[in-house]
Order: sequence, then C-alpha cells, then structure tokens
Amino acid sequence: MKYAVIVGTRPEIIKMAIIIKELKKLSSSNLFIHSGQHYDYHMDGVMLKTFQLPDPDFNFKVGSGSHSFITSEIMKKTENLILKEGITAVIVHGDTNTTLGACLAAAKLNIPIIHVESGLRSYDKSMPEEINRIIVDHLSTILFAPTKEAQNNLKKEGLVDGVYVVGQTLVDSIQEVSDKINTNTILTKYGVKSKQYFVVTCHRQENTNSQTKLSSIINSLKELSEKSQHKVLFSLHPRTKEKLKEFSLYSLILNSKIIILDPPVNFIESIHLQKEAKVVLTDSGGLQEEACILKTPCLTLRDSTERPETIKCGANRLINVEKDNIIKALEDDSLTHNNWLNPYHTEKPSKKIIDILIDFFS
Ligand code: UD1
Repeated sequence: MKYAVIVGTRPEIIKMAIIIKELKKLSSSNLFIHSGQHYDYHMDGVMLKTFQLPDPDFNFKVGSGSHSFITSEIMKKTENLILKEGITAVIVHGDTNTTLGACLAAAKLNIPIIHVESGLRSYDKSMPEEINRIIVDHLSTILFAPTKEAQNNLKKEGLVDGVYVVGQTLVDSIQEVSDKINTNTILTKYGVKSKQYFVVTCHRQENTNSQTKLSSIINSLKELSEKSQHKVLFSLHPRTKEKLKEFSLYSLILNSKIIILDPPVNFIESIHLQKEAKVVLTDSGGLQEEACILKTPCLTLRDSTERPETIKCGANRLINVEKDNIIKALEDDSLTHNNWLNPYHTEKPSKKIIDILIDFFS
C-alpha cells in the first residue's frame, strides 16, 4: 500500500501528527501532503515543529478563497498527485474543505478513502463542516469513529461496514506535548493564576461572519474583562481578526482589558492554558474536546454541537451568543465541578488505527 495523508488546517495537523509519523516509520514511500489551506506560521508551520513532523512531501499551497474554490483546487491537485505518485489509499481527517477536496478526488479514481474522526454530526447543514462530514463519511471505505455515539450516527445513515471505534487521536496529541513545558512557565508568561482566568477562542464562520453575533461576543468579553475577578485571555484566529477590523470592532478590543493573544497561542500553550483555566469559552470543536479531556468546564458559543458526548458527561454546555447569557453562564459558580468521566479516554488511538489499516489491507 502507498498511503497519502492529506491535511491542510491546524486541527488536522494536530490530530493526525502521530499517524503521519507512524506511517512514515512504516515506509518512507507513504506521503504527507499539505493542502496549504492554512498557511500562516502560527496556524501551520509551528505545528510541524511542535510535533517534530517532517516537511510535507507536497504542498498544494491553495491558500484562502471561497469554499468551492478551495475544495476544487484541492480536488484537482490531489487527482494529479494520486496518478503521478501511484497512491493507493488516501487518509483524511475530520470535516474541512481539505478533507472534502481530497476525498472527492480519491473517490473519482476509485481509491480507498480512510476517514479519521468519522461519524460526527451537528445536524445543522448551515455549517460547511457538516456538509463535508456527511459526504466524506458516505464515500469512505474505512471509517474511524472516535466514540460509540459517532458510530451510532453512522449506523443511522446505513454506514456499518468498515466502521471502527478507535477513540479520539487528540488524546495521543495531548499526551505527546503535555510534558514538553512547565505549566507555571506559561501562567507566568501570560500573567495569570490557576483557575483565575477564562480562555476564549472564536473563529466559526457562523459567528465571525455575523456583525451582530461577533459584536455581542466581543462586548461580553469586554464587560467581563472590566467587571469579573477573572482575567479574559482571547486567542485570536486570523479570520476573526480580519472580521473584527471589517466590522470596526478591532479597536474596541485593543482598548479593553481583554488579554489578546495574537498571534494565536500554539498547541502546547493552549493545552496548558486550558488545563488551568476556570472555564473555556469557545466555538471550536477541538477545544470542546480538549477542555473535556483536561477536566476544565467548557461553554460553547453555538446552538448545536457535533460533540454531544461532552455535554452528556457534564463537561460542556451550549450557550448562544447573547451578551447576558454569556456573562451569566461564565459567572455561574457551579462551573467549578469537573468530576466527569472522559468520553474520549482510550489507549493509543493512533496506533490502533495503524494496526487496523495493516490488517485490513494485508
Ligand atoms: C477551517 C475549517 C474548520 C476548522 C478551522 C480551524 C473548513 C470548512 N473549516 O476553518 O472546520 O475548525 O479551519 O482553524 O475547512 N486565514 C489566514 N491564515 C491562515 C488560515 C486562515 O489568514 O493560515 C484566514 C483567511 O482570511 C481565511 C480565513 O482565515 O479566508 C478562513 O480560513 P479557512 O481555512 O477557510 O477556514 P477556518 O475558519 O480556519
């Protein structure tokens, strides 16, 4: 077999890092391909360094653009590469436009598609990620679901063959970096004390593209930073920064007491900051999982989530983006509880995936 792992965004690199390294160990002919959907050093290059990954064998350098532009560019470039390099299976992760583009190219060439983090559903098709997940799952040969709930979602859509519940590869990635730095060093660097600050991220299209929603989130953070006894740390995604400028909200946060982390913190720092935070406030899928694994309560700035496991176990709560709601939720004292059972707990999910692949294709 000649595998090609195709990734392109920050979360895909984080969650596929160990699999990429293991596949390279198995055979140097296996390929690590980057679509270039994320290209800023702090969204991309730093991740390669964090996980000591080799440089990608190929980088499509697609950059930013409309969803269709990114997807179709990746599709064309993946097709060329599959043919030129004699790739016999394509491995994709999650729900990004990179995942979809690479998957469609492989499907048209009848190459097996392996989907890691399969079966997640928010049941909200207005999210581009939901569309991507559904299509990729239905075209995949092997579907690696992180939990039984994800497996059940697949079953409801008639997807039973080739489905394996292996756990969440994020667990491996957290383990890989957690000893690399001392937590106190990070707290000192950002001038915060354990459990006395909130960590905030916000980058979802449905929040950042709406001036009303983004303004409500930013005004909540501003008010909290002025009135709460907890500090507010806001890690800034480049998309959010761009939108804040467009909606004339950027100077508002610069002139507030919000501690802005720009460029956004790297994975190692993010893990340590989340671990010691009082609450994580986010619209990111990855952070909902990370906070749950790290035993920090999470409040999610969305109406739905494709990670219901985090809600069921009591680690996460969906709140909408209304200012009063956000402030009330963050100041809720019951948020100190953190004795939930981690639904993502499994031993070495990345290794399980490799073992299943070897067995399946032998
Ligand atoms: C993508 C994924 C999302 C994932 C997120 C992680 C899709 C549909 N969505 O969303 O599931 O949670 O990555 O970040 O693929 N930008 C830069 N530099 C970069 C990357 C992005 O400036 O390195 C800016 C550009 O203005 C770009 C915008 O961010 O247009 C959005 O980037 P894009 O990759 O399209 O989507 P994300 O919001 O990052």
